[in-house]
Amino acid sequence: MNRNDFPCLDVKVHNKPLVYFDNAATAQRPQSVIDAVANYYTKTNANVHRGVHTLSGEATDQFEAARESMAKLLNSPSEKNIIFTRGCTEGVNLVAQTFVRSRISHGDEIIVSEMEHHSNIVPWQLLCEQTGAQLKVLPFNDDGELQIELLNDLITNKTKFLSVVHASNSLGTINPIKQIVKMAHAKNVPVLVDGAQAAAHLTIDVQDLDCDFYTTSGHKMYGPTGIGTLYGKMEHLEAMPPYHGGGEMISHVTFEKTVYSPVPAKFEAGTPNIAGAIGLGAAADYILKHGIENINKADTELLDYATKKMLQVDGLRIIGTASHKVSVVSFTLKGVHPHDLGTILDHYGIAIRTGHHCTMPAIKHFNVPATARASFAFYNSKDEIDYFIECLEKAREMFV
Ligand code: ALA
Repeated sequence: MNRNDFPCLDVKVHNKPLVYFDNAATAQRPQSVIDAVANYYTKTNANVHRGVHTLSGEATDQFEAARESMAKLLNSPSEKNIIFTRGCTEGVNLVAQTFVRSRISHGDEIIVSEMEHHSNIVPWQLLCEQTGAQLKVLPFNDDGELQIELLNDLITNKTKFLSVVHASNSLGTINPIKQIVKMAHAKNVPVLVDGAQAAAHLTIDVQDLDCDFYTTSGHKMYGPTGIGTLYGKMEHLEAMPPYHGGGEMISHVTFEKTVYSPVPAKFEAGTPNIAGAIGLGAAADYILKHGIENINKADTELLDYATKKMLQVDGLRIIGTASHKVSVVSFTLKGVHPHDLGTILDHYGIAIRTGHHCTMPAIKHFNVPATARASFAFYNSKDEIDYFIECLEKAREMFV
């Protein structure tokens, strides 16, 4: 677990060493992930599950080993519960259009929380438009903590599904997923957990959480872009109709009738993102090798250090002050628009994100049009945070 494992951290921006504080948008990749992708293309490039020739066999082995690594990372009961997707967005859309669509009708309800990423709002709105179902929202308080005491009343006999984020990408809040799942299950409501922001920071045990579905995005957990996973309970995956039709997801096709492949192939139509999946497996192996507890400890130390220092900056307001957070700090700085701040910091070599972070309703809660967001990974350092604070002060002085 070493900063030197991540070659992109050595680049210079505006002739300054890069300070990469945009890990919530996408993390950096370790050399082992880059090598896994490059090795596939240079030494094993072939399609999977389709050939008797050697390369195809090797590619298939690597692809399936990646599924096993992700199963291990999530403590899935079997690698067969793990479906490769393009990321959380596709995972949520898949569940919306298969599992939920097949059991929802006009007047039924779906619950999401106020802090969801757009990828966990819009797919449900689309489903509501298609079926006449209604979207209901579990609010959060001014610290950015879900008001789960309202959940019991929000769930009615019309509620068919609940979808909630594990860790908020804009507020940093870690939600009490186990408790939420328990409350929903007590009323027979299945739950999807969006793990996009959690997978790089938190221990994830889908069996302990008892969630029905859990999504991950590779690029937020040190893996490639355009790849992720959907975990589902086997009884659901077996009962669900396929999402996409095509090759690989079938065992027999005639013009009269098609018999689908067993799970997980049933949900993996077409030639998959083979290199991406292999790279994702390498990212999972990296986390498993170094220990998510150690990664979390380092992240949390940076979060606490940065929070303390940032609160000393005149006019700085932290948006999202939950007691349990991943290493994400959204903030505003009095008199400086977040976009101006982002541009100024870039000139000092510091990468942060500014805007609504794909969570417009969450940002609106705080009556601000946008925030700046610094998000840390274990490979960042306290020295980088000190430099960031220095540059924040310089930016503030430019505008007073
Ligand atoms: N959802 C990503 C973010 O938080 C892109 O920035």
